[in-house]
Amino acid sequence: MALRTILRYPDPRLLQVAAPVERVDDAIRELIGDMADTMYEAPGIGLAATQIDVHLRIIVIDLSEKRDALQVFINPEIDNAGNELAVHEEGCLSVPGIFENVERPGRITVRALDAQGQPFTRDAEGLLAVCLQHEIDHLNGRVFVQHLSRLKQSRIRAKLAKQERDAA
Ligand code: NI
Repeated sequence: MALRTILRYPDPRLLQVAAPVERVDDAIRELIGDMADTMYEAPGIGLAATQIDVHLRIIVIDLSEKRDALQVFINPEIDNAGNELAVHEEGCLSVPGIFENVERPGRITVRALDAQGQPFTRDAEGLLAVCLQHEIDHLNGRVFVQHLSRLKQSRIRAKLAKQERDAA
């Protein structure tokens, strides 16, 4: 297992649409291990393969306080989204230091494969629903700030550019 570099918005590689995983094998499980290590080290609560420049449909999430409850979603599909919308503050390891409210369906049902390649279905609400939709967006080449107004997006890009200049 190894730590991978997390791409930063507005890196154009974050806009790439990820391909489905065709076979869940040891190489995929090794990649999942790297993704988990990278997420825990960051630290973050979710990571999509897109964020480490691997364009396959894989997500890892851990919402537990003890950081010992890894959830893996391979080829996730939103099966069912309720009509009720919920607003939640979101952040992203690819958009460091930026936290903004985003409105999304409050309840979803997701279908995916686990790390053994077995299909499962998960009903999600609250933070898990937010996190899943945020990460599935990444797999579709979408970063959460793209849910915001153009003005806000350009302010965020300016702020991130300044952060990088200051860090240099
Ligand atoms: Ni993110």
